[in-house]
Amino acid sequence: MVSPFDRGFLFAHAAYEVTAVYGGRLVDFEGHMSRLDRTLGGIALPNPLSAEAWGKVHRDLIEYNNLTEGLIYLQVTGGAYGMRDFAGPEEFEPTVFLYADTKQLIGETARDGVRAIFLDDTRWKRRDMKTTQLLSQALAYRAAREAGADTALMVEEGRVTEAASSNAWIVDSAGQLVTRELSSSILPGITRAGVLSLLEGSGLTLVERSFTPAEALGAVEAFTTSAGAMIAPVISIDGQSIGSGKPGPVTRQLQRLYYQAMGADVAAVAPWAMG
Ligand code: PDD
Repeated sequence: MVSPFDRGFLFAHAAYEVTAVYGGRLVDFEGHMSRLDRTLGGIALPNPLSAEAWGKVHRDLIEYNNLTEGLIYLQVTGGAYGMRDFAGPEEFEPTVFLYADTKQLIGETARDGVRAIFLDDTRWKRRDMKTTQLLSQALAYRAAREAGADTALMVEEGRVTEAASSNAWIVDSAGQLVTRELSSSILPGITRAGVLSLLEGSGLTLVERSFTPAEALGAVEAFTTSAGAMIAPVISIDGQSIGSGKPGPVTRQLQRLYYQAMGADVAAVAPWAMG
């Protein structure tokens, strides 16, 4: 049971992580655990479990649920203390919640891509911490659905920050990969870091910088990265096709590299990514 006075419920005083599971194994788990530690430190909560204990509870969930492909969600909140009190106690005793969910990570979204819209980024300033303050994103997904799209690219001061629950990338007309540099404006995506680590020897060049909505519309390709959808091609924004309007060759190359690194048999599970 979770008390209605839990600080996660009342104040969104909570950190969360979403880790992909593929072939029954956790993907980039250490990255998720170090980001969790960093978020908890930033929101004044102690990490309630050791690295070993987090690993065990994740593996137990995979086993109990017979999970081969999907996600493990975890949330750590500030816990419940008497009635509503903004500051709360000196020391917190966190509430911990986890669940496992089956989801096809290498599936139709990765094959066919997503449609996006641009939206004003109304989030708070510490987007580098993965907290459950997700109202802007929840409303962004509702606005996208209303517009007949799947997700939103958030825009601040004339530049794209990231997507509603993923990092945003484009391939420019020179064939260079472009994704925003890390700062408090975006979440340091674990999938983003995974993709970056695969670039050496790929023949692809990367520029870490922000880009404008006009650059995104004029891009040759666009895609997003996240644990929830891995590498998702963006085929249109605000109803305008990106590039050919179909997932492009650079996106396919990165999907192949990333899926291989996850241990997938790409020819069998993603023949469309074979190029
Ligand atoms: N979202 N940016 C934002 C705002 C996100 O919410 C996420 C992840 C990412 C990508 O991070 P990672 O590669 O570590 O998943 C970037 C998760 C999946 C979610 O909220 O469900």
